[in-house]
Amino acid sequence: MPPPVKMEGVKLFKPSKTVSREFFEHLVSSHGLGHDGFHGKDHWVRVLHNACEIAAETGANLRVLELFAVLHGTQRHNENHDPKHGHRAAAYAAELKGTWFELADDEMELLVEVCRYHSDDIVEAHPTEQACWDSDRLDLGRVGVRPDPRYLCASFARRPEVIEAAYRRSILARQTEIGDFFQKG
Ligand SMILES: [Fe+2]
Repeated sequence: MPPPVKMEGVKLFKPSKTVSREFFEHLVSSHGLGHDGFHGKDHWVRVLHNACEIAAETGANLRVLELFAVLHGTQRHNENHDPKHGHRAAAYAAELKGTWFELADDEMELLVEVCRYHSDDIVEAHPTEQACWDSDRLDLGRVGVRPDPRYLCASFARRPEVIEAAYRRSILARQTEIGDFFQKG
């Protein structure tokens, strides 16, 4: 196994007030598909990385973005065609709220929606929803697809240099570091 690839911009990770290390580890250990495919924790961390960059530029809701990154792929039943996995992830998020994380009601509505519809190719939506979906779509290089600006929602994500940097990360990093994302102690 090669050593983890240092992620550019990993300094963007600030200790999360929303996702604890224990919660992340719970999601990792509960993920039925394991983490050797295209939809495991390395993808979640790269989505998180994209999300932090987008939130810093656009002011999208980072709590919703962080939760989307770590939850949206957890309920897949396979690595290929699984059109209902977003609906299951939305239900799973609702189940975990209050146990593993807290979120205001309006934020929870957004989280449920972004999980439910994240693979439906929607581009017109609330700015935080757009940020979630762009964060995910910017990581398509892992399945051999260069992100197409026509399927990205917001102007920041469509910038050629943003697409290129995300694409490079997605094809280089089979293992990714989560840096300083978790609170110490
Ligand atoms: Fe994803």
